[in-house]
Amino acid sequence: MVNVLFSEAAIAEQVSRLARHVSQDYKALVSRQHPLIVLPVLKGAWIFSADLVRCLALPVRLEFLRASSYRDGTSSGELHVDIPGPASLGGHHLLVIEDIVDTGRTLSRILENLRACHPHSLKVCTLLDKPARRIMPVEIHYRGFSVGNRFVVGYGMDLAECYRELPYVGDLGGS
Ligand code: IMP
Ligand code: MG
Repeated sequence: MVNVLFSEAAIAEQVSRLARHVSQDYKALVSRQHPLIVLPVLKGAWIFSADLVRCLALPVRLEFLRASSYRDGTSSGELHVDIPGPASLGGHHLLVIEDIVDTGRTLSRILENLRACHPHSLKVCTLLDKPARRIMPVEIHYRGFSVGNRFVVGYGMDLAECYRELPYVGDLGGS
């Protein structure tokens, strides 16, 4: 049984608020020739980023990042990050889109790898933030909601590949 924490309507409101801020901040910096490069982290950020880019009043280019860890249920293990075409990212404005920042390990590794591509700028937008669990300090420029120390699912996020399709974010209760 999934308890709703953030409804479809509440998420839509945050998505448009975040999109307004992002559009405002980048509108003078990007163009069709030099678009904002949006980098959703798969798989979790797929729905959030699809909704977010459709609210942006900016020219964007999409490049997907893949972060995976050999995990059993809810705990992460060895981390791997795939960055496609790193040479094409140099000199561009990059915006990483995350579903949730938990310990910060994934994001910190992603940012380290992207900095090595020498972007013009590098920022982060996440739907959810779990600050109580942070191990690696990471700067978050655009944040939707903060959540406590609980495991959430839905709106792209999974527990063992289940629940990604839910239109809201919830937890499984009992915590
Ligand atoms: P990290 O601990 O910040 O490295 O989080 C790594 C990734 O684990 C996040 O980007 C999510 O994809 C996933 N994750 C962390 N917490 C949750 C959660 O509560 N629900 C679903 N996925 C999570
Ligand atoms: Mg993620």
